[in-house]
Amino acid sequence: MTEETATLRVGDKEYSLPIVVGTEDEVGIDITALRQQSGCITLDPAFGNTGSCKSAITFIDGEKGILRYRGIPIQQLAEKSRFIEVAYLLIWGELPTQAQMSRFSEMLTDEALLHESLKHHFEGFPNTSPPMAMLSAMINAISCYHPDVLPCETDAQFEEAVAHIVSKVRTVAAFSYKMSRGEPFIYPDPRRKYVNNLLYMMFTVPHHAYDASPEIERAMNLILLLHADHEQNCSTSTVRMVGSSQANLFASIASGVCALWGPLHGGANQAVIEMLEEIRRGKMDIATCIKLAKDKESGFRLMGFGHRVYRNFDPRAKILRKACDDVLTYLKRSDPLLDIARSLEDAALKDSYFVDRKLYPNVDFYSGIIMRAIGIPVNMFPVMFAIGRLPGWIAHWREQRCTPGARIARPRQIYTGPCQRDFVPMDER
Ligand code: CMC
Repeated sequence: MTEETATLRVGDKEYSLPIVVGTEDEVGIDITALRQQSGCITLDPAFGNTGSCKSAITFIDGEKGILRYRGIPIQQLAEKSRFIEVAYLLIWGELPTQAQMSRFSEMLTDEALLHESLKHHFEGFPNTSPPMAMLSAMINAISCYHPDVLPCETDAQFEEAVAHIVSKVRTVAAFSYKMSRGEPFIYPDPRRKYVNNLLYMMFTVPHHAYDASPEIERAMNLILLLHADHEQNCSTSTVRMVGSSQANLFASIASGVCALWGPLHGGANQAVIEMLEEIRRGKMDIATCIKLAKDKESGFRLMGFGHRVYRNFDPRAKILRKACDDVLTYLKRSDPLLDIARSLEDAALKDSYFVDRKLYPNVDFYSGIIMRAIGIPVNMFPVMFAIGRLPGWIAHWREQRCTPGARIARPRQIYTGPCQRDFVPMDER
């Protein structure tokens, strides 16, 4: 797809750099040979202008608010598909046939149980442990029990590894919730579908089996599939980077969970609800919240607002805003936090600070309200995001691994420390 070249002048020398054009006409200047030719590197802290790879998984046009998985618009998937079908699409590139779907579902059912010894690992955590800490630790622990699937060298090994990780992460999530509640673990039920089983394992207690209604199951499916991939975001780039050292799938995914945990990324859904709760409890009003978010000295940000790529609207937030209404109407409930969220959104979108910087609600602004309505506690929100993002992480890990000539990811730097100096013995310092 290389068409023209770009010319770069450094001092009195000119360098010709190939231009790469993607299938959606995105243009990149290929600088892979720049240092070799010129001795210069490019500097782009936080990678705002750096393409780290070519990828055929997800397309985003941040200006137009477009998000497509393997070419299919997110709106169509949100309306017509469910999480596990979307997972298949992302990982293997095509929507599954009935036979492929059945096979994948059966493999997920077969791999849902954790090795019994893994329960002792859970018992080693204090019950106040953050669920994301348990999740990342347990993903590596799981791999110790399945060394046979770790090499992922053949398609069959990869398929097995995918089934293990997608299915067992759900069981780990439910068990970590049970741990925090001091309730007995509920084993996966092989008759239930993926999302229904997740909610069953979380909310069933020995004297009462929880059975999610189709509406609740649908809402949870929606949340997971809307999170399923988002091209080179922080956690996915982490997974690709770790995978580039040829670390196994489980180790790479565990590192993705850690990257996701931060409040600027997957921890934002939790931070949004905590912010809305503060407003509800009267600790802060909407005007103060907006004022603080605009004040750089305050260190406060309007959580659930802004995005590196979306500069118009986040299509996922649009879908979830409507889904909040649907879920609360179905449950015949209102949530004061939804009213506060809407007022906050209205106030921010009238304020020139947010308008000028093109800051809009992102996926995390409304997802927490739906999860709250379902009964999921806030500290589990990032875990739900992680379950949702798994297919994307897996797809990117695989794509990176299968790229011919892939090299270990290893950025460079511009050194700004002291120039060479001599060691000073302790008694002379
Ligand atoms: N509240 C107040 N100001 C903001 C916010 C915000 N939420 N987001 C960006 N800004 C300001 C920022 O201070 C900067 O101002 P200035 O130009 O005067 O220096 C300008 O807007 C551009 O922001 P940026 O920090 O350069 O944007 P970024 O692309 O580096 O960061 C972000 C993107 C999502 C980390 C950021 O918008 C943010 O911190 N949002 C709140 C946390 C959040 O909701 N995260 C979830 C992201 S979506 C799901 C996911 O991918 O995990």
